[in-house]
Amino acid sequence: MNVLAIETTCDETAAAVITRERHVLASAVASQEEVHERFQGVVPELAARAHLERIVPILRKVVTESGIQPTRDLAAIAVATEPGLPGSLLVGLAAAKALCVAWDKPLVAINHVQAHIYACQLGRAESIFPCVGFVVSGGHTNLYHCHAANRWKYLGGTIDDAVGEAFDKVAVMIGLPYPGGLHLSRLAAEGDATAFALPRPLLKDRSTLNMSFSGLKTAVRYKLTGTGKQDFRALELSEELRSNLAASFQQAAVDCVVGKAELALKQTGLRRLCVGGGVAANDLLRQDLATMTERLGVELLIAPKDLCTDNAVMGAIAWEKIDQQDYSPLDIDIHPGLLR
Ligand code: KG4
Ligand code: ZN
Repeated sequence: MNVLAIETTCDETAAAVITRERHVLASAVASQEEVHERFQGVVPELAARAHLERIVPILRKVVTESGIQPTRDLAAIAVATEPGLPGSLLVGLAAAKALCVAWDKPLVAINHVQAHIYACQLGRAESIFPCVGFVVSGGHTNLYHCHAANRWKYLGGTIDDAVGEAFDKVAVMIGLPYPGGLHLSRLAAEGDATAFALPRPLLKDRSTLNMSFSGLKTAVRYKLTGTGKQDFRALELSEELRSNLAASFQQAAVDCVVGKAELALKQTGLRRLCVGGGVAANDLLRQDLATMTERLGVELLIAPKDLCTDNAVMGAIAWEKIDQQDYSPLDIDIHPGLLR
């Protein structure tokens, strides 16, 4: 049997067909980068409308490519219902409900943030639970004590910008295209991470697992402008300055993420760390997490790079709910806010 998973929480329209054994029969992601690029950030209203255009072609594509006969071969339709942008979530949920009615299938509601962590389960026989789950993305920077796929406790997270958001905003400052995380990391590879002294907010505060990235982002702006009041033209900056700033920022952000992951492991006593979300694709982060967990003698699982940014394959988490007959009624609503 198979599950059809739908993902529309932010600005990617995605669907996948996944077997009970967690094999991916088909997966497709339609990005909206060209829609939001000129605004240098996701515009919620435009995101919802773009989902509306893309959702049916994406669903047709994965159903056709998978070769399944939906009424016969599907155990359920799964959809991410929380957290995310309200208009975006509604498009995915409406599509899922319609298919449930048309094909007479049960609905499984997915928590998008837990699904990011579950990306670490794919391709692995043993369960990833219990673990410290860490989601580092454009919308979230959250630490969890994950007891099971459907049982977790929020440990701490960013009190302002998500780490990916900080990457994207700093990328804009130094003249890189949106979304800038990957571009910034490429530029950083050529720079000197010690060139600029940047703050690592809350890193030394061992009383909290909360993080903060907006002060770091502002500090980069001040390095660029001196007082922060002058205007500057990113493209007039020298290549050396841009790469040094990118490298210094990246190291500061990564230090904060790795430091809090270490504190979460120590506080919970858990012996496994599972990391997902777009920023988990960052090479420096992957490398520094490996060094830290090796030092602690803790197991590290990071989502495969192609499953770090939003996708529907991580909707395989639905199988954990299907196994427990944990379905949702067809009048279920979305939950845009982060349910801790
Ligand atoms: O998980 P995701 O697709 O969306 C959310 O659920 O928020 O993450 C997107 C974020 C963006 O901020 C993007 O710049 C960042 O992940 N990102 C990276 C890298 N690749 C993507 N940040 C740093 N280094 C990367 N290699
Ligand atoms: Zn996401």
